[in-house]
Order: sequence, then C-alpha cells, then structure tokens
Amino acid sequence: MKKIMMANLKMNLNYDDMKNYKQVLESSGVEGLIICPSYLFLSDMKSDKYDLCSQNGYAIDKGAFTGEISFYQLSSLNIKYSLIGHSERRHVFKETDEDMNLKMQSCLKNNIIPVLCIGETKEERESNGTKEVLERQLNIALKDVSLTDIIIAYEPVWAIGTGLIPTMDEINDIHLHIKRVLKESLSINSKVLYGGSVNLSNISDITILGNVDGVLIGGASNDPNNLIAMYNKM
Ligand code: PGA
Repeated sequence: MKKIMMANLKMNLNYDDMKNYKQVLESSGVEGLIICPSYLFLSDMKSDKYDLCSQNGYAIDKGAFTGEISFYQLSSLNIKYSLIGHSERRHVFKETDEDMNLKMQSCLKNNIIPVLCIGETKEERESNGTKEVLERQLNIALKDVSLTDIIIAYEPVWAIGTGLIPTMDEINDIHLHIKRVLKESLSINSKVLYGGSVNLSNISDITILGNVDGVLIGGASNDPNNLIAMYNKM
C-alpha cells in the first residue's frame, strides 16, 4: 500500500494557479493525495480524486471572531482533515501547546481528522532536547482528548523550507519514539508523517523507512507536476 502524501500549499498559489492545480491532479490518474490549499479555495478544490485538508482552524464554533474560520464551519463543507500546530502557526502566530489542545477538541467534536504537527527548533536539537520537546507537544495537545483517528506530522522546525533534513537513521528513530510515546502514555495508535524539505531527490529514501507512514510536503508541492513525480517515487 502507498504511504500518505500531503501537500501543504501554504499561502502560495492564487485562484488561477489552483484551477490549474486541480486540473493537473484530476487528469493525472493519481488518487489518494491529501491537499491543503488556503481556506479561500477549499470549496473550489473539492474533488473525488483527492482529499482536502485545512491549514488551520479556530477552536470556537461561532461568534464575534472577525477573520477567523472555525472547524465547525469547515465541517459544513465536509473537509476531512485539518493541520493543527504547523510550525508557522506556532512561531509566526505564537500559537501555544494549549491552543493545540483546544483545536484538537474542536476537530474531534466537528468530525475533522487532526494532523498534529510537532517538531523541535535548531536550538532545542543542539541541546539534545528533541525528544523532550516532542513529548511535551504531544502530551499537552492530546491531554484529555479521546481520539479514534489522528495523524501526527513530525516536522523539525530547522528543516522546514531550508533544504536541510535529519539523517535517515534520525528520522526513523524519532518516528519510533513518537509512536512509543503515543502508545505508552496516551494509548493512541497513529500514523506518523515526516515533513521538512522533502523533495524529488530524497522522497524515496524517506518513505522507505519502516517507521515513516508518509510525508507532508511544502515548497516542493507548489507545482502539481512535481507532486505527481514525487508520488511516483514513493
Ligand atoms: P517544506 O515545508 O517542504 O517547504 O520544508 C514543509 C511544511 O512546512 O509543511
């Protein structure tokens, strides 16, 4: 069975780009991808050839929160997945582990499968803090959340958009550690994806690793033809 491939398009493509993106994917014959467009394009991007994932969501269903989009609203469009706690949300928009916990609860209430992103900074890695940071992020985000379906994306902050990646042994070892923490402390069995500078040259080496259940791709997914080329190398 193919592993999971998610494309995080961030705030990159415009309306015409997205129309082309959809057309390329639909005519490619590739099925089973998970695409994360901007909120703005979620409706237009609906397709029976791939699933959609929101890049974020607001934990309160409705109210006076100008400019926000709630999981409650996303679920009314039948959006299947949502990223939670992407590094850019944590570091640019200062979202906390406690915010992630509220978002997890709201996703579950609204039948959206959360894709919880976790990862250490360069400083945390250099001080041998990686595993501790990941455990903290998991334990707080998943506290008192009764889960049936969830995906974890391990994305080292220092690897996102930099062209740098951990060694294959490190990736495999950290994925195993995440699975152990999920199982032993939280009684959760979850798929764990790797994200951070995945591209056409390294995707085969990453997705062949036994503990890696798939990939979350940023920059290299902006071109739909490159995404398909990567899919064919998994
Ligand atoms: P990148 O981004 O593939 O451009 O490093 C990954 C991500 O931010 O999810």
